[in-house]
Amino acid sequence: MTESMMIVTTLEELFHARRLLDGPLGLVPTMGYLHDGHISLVEQAKSECQSVIATIFVNPTQFGPSEDLSKYPRNLERDLHLLEAAGVDLVWLPTPEVMYPAGYQTWVDVETLTKPLEGAMRPGHFRGVTTIVAKLFNATRPDKAYFGQKDAQQAAVIRQMTRDLSYPLEIVICPTLREADGLAMSSRNSYLSLEQRQAATVLYRALSAAKKAFDGGEKDAEQLRQIVKDVIASEPLAQLQYVSCADYDALTELETVSGKALLSLVVFVGKTRLIDNLILA
Ligand code: PAF
Repeated sequence: MTESMMIVTTLEELFHARRLLDGPLGLVPTMGYLHDGHISLVEQAKSECQSVIATIFVNPTQFGPSEDLSKYPRNLERDLHLLEAAGVDLVWLPTPEVMYPAGYQTWVDVETLTKPLEGAMRPGHFRGVTTIVAKLFNATRPDKAYFGQKDAQQAAVIRQMTRDLSYPLEIVICPTLREADGLAMSSRNSYLSLEQRQAATVLYRALSAAKKAFDGGEKDAEQLRQIVKDVIASEPLAQLQYVSCADYDALTELETVSGKALLSLVVFVGKTRLIDNLILA
């Protein structure tokens, strides 16, 4: 724990500041525009670690050509206030040049887990995520790193990468934080108009209806997917991109849910792409 929050940009500054922190060290990587979900990751890190580093970097390599990187919401001043109030010790704000200097050519690619679901819809996305997360791990050398369950496939892919590359750290996955009406917190919710924001509650309603059926004894994965499809179809402003009922670890589609499963979906509300999931167990 240091006196006041340190804010650094370059690698040299980071390495210097990192040496001042007591262990164990928790890392909370973010792309900024923070909400209570991010702060809950910081709180969990604070409760388990002596020092906490947060990073804010809108990582260009995880955006596809049709995804507008320049429109990603940003509010650095507010983010820094929130991180300071949450008790973060060190914030690293690398620039694209720090992370990807001229001539950059090294990538981290998890081969199989990145194929279905988000990987199929957003080619190259996870290669960008695993590359930047590996670089964040290498530079900050945390004992624990914190990610949200809302990005369930990202969490699985990062767990796999951490095992495969023998990183000496623990990945902690924290529960999805929701608004009072069930909408999963996301920086992307800020894109929604009032009417779209109301319509967006359909994601959680759809997942909850299927979970209720599952808890009531429905184990047929196709039936569970169909329940989600029907609820989404009842909301005119929502367009389903996919619904999946997959094995929790392998992310392969199931016929019957017998062990732990991940029920996940992607829905467009207007131009905004929203994701959410619930665990069936
Ligand atoms: O989940 C996110 O915000 C990003 O994918 C992450 C993990 C910070 C990597 O850029």
